[in-house]
Amino acid sequence: MGISIQHLLGLDGISREDITLMLDTADSFYEVLQREIKVVPTLRGKTVVNLFYEDSTRTRISFELAEKRLSASPLNFSVSNSSVNKGETLRDTIKNIEAMKIDMVVVRHSCAGVPYFLTQCTDAVIVNAGDGLHEHPTQALLDMMTIRQKLGRLEGLKVAIIGDIFHSRVARSNAWGMSTMGMKVVLCGPPTLLPQHYESLGVPMTDDLNEAIDGADVVMMLRLQRERQASGAFPTIREYRNRYCFDLEKLFSLPENVLVMHPGPINRGIELASDVADGNNSVILQQVTNGVAVRMAVLYLLGGGENG
Ligand code: CP
Repeated sequence: MGISIQHLLGLDGISREDITLMLDTADSFYEVLQREIKVVPTLRGKTVVNLFYEDSTRTRISFELAEKRLSASPLNFSVSNSSVNKGETLRDTIKNIEAMKIDMVVVRHSCAGVPYFLTQCTDAVIVNAGDGLHEHPTQALLDMMTIRQKLGRLEGLKVAIIGDIFHSRVARSNAWGMSTMGMKVVLCGPPTLLPQHYESLGVPMTDDLNEAIDGADVVMMLRLQRERQASGAFPTIREYRNRYCFDLEKLFSLPENVLVMHPGPINRGIELASDVADGNNSVILQQVTNGVAVRMAVLYLLGGGENG
C-alpha cells in the first residue's frame, strides 16, 4: 500500500498508518545511507524546487542532499537574490517556476498556511519545510524516527517538550504526530508561551519543568525564539534560563537512558546546557543524520518513486 496523502502539509490529521509508512521507509533509506554508494535512482528525472523564504541550515541542506541521494534534480530558490525583491507575489513566483516543468516543491515560509496555498496554485507535490507558527512535519518525523531507533518503540513513551511552545512549529507537529503514535506528550514553558488550545485537544501542559520531566523517556528542548519575543512573554533571559534551562542537575534526576533532543539551532546555556547538549544522552546530531533519511522517504513516497 502507498501513502494516502498527495502533499505533506502537516501531521495534524495524518493517520498512524501513513506516519508508520514514512518512518519505516526512512529506516530503509537509513540503511542505504550506511553504504559506500549512497545514491539510488528512484526519483531520476524528477525536478524538486527548494523554495526557502526563511533561513535554514539543517532542513535546507538535508532536503537538497535527500534529493541528490534519490537522483532527483534539485533547484534552490533564495529570496535574497530573486524577483521577490522586485515585488513579485508568491502566486506569480510559483506559477512561473511551474511553467518550467517541475514536479515537487519543498517550501519554508514565515506565514502559516503557505504550503496549503501553493497546493491551490500548482499541480506540483508540496512538502512543508516549516510554515510560520503552524507545522514542521519532517522535523517531527525525524524526531520520532530517532526515538524509535534508540528506544525501540514509540507507543507508551513519555516525551516532555519544553520551552517556547507558542512560537514552535516543531512542538505543534510533534504534539499531533506523537499523540497519533500513542506517545504521552507533555508541553512545558512559561505560562505566557503555552497556547491554551493544546489542553482542549488533550495534550497536557505545565509551567513546572520538574513536573514535566518526571517519568520522561525523552526530553526535547526547544529554541527560545528570541527574534519573536517582542511581546515580553517573560521578564529576562536570565529568569528564563533559571527556570527552563535543562542542565546536568536535571539530567541526573532522570533515568540513565533518557534521550535529550533539540531541533536546532541551540541557544547554548539558555534552554540547554552545553555539557548536556554534547553529553552521552544527547541524540541531537543523530536527529540531523536521520533528517536526510526522513526527507528521502517523504520525497520518495509523495514523488511516486520506483525501486531501482
Ligand atoms: N530544525 C530546523 O528546522 O533547523 P533549520 O532552521 O536550521 O532548518
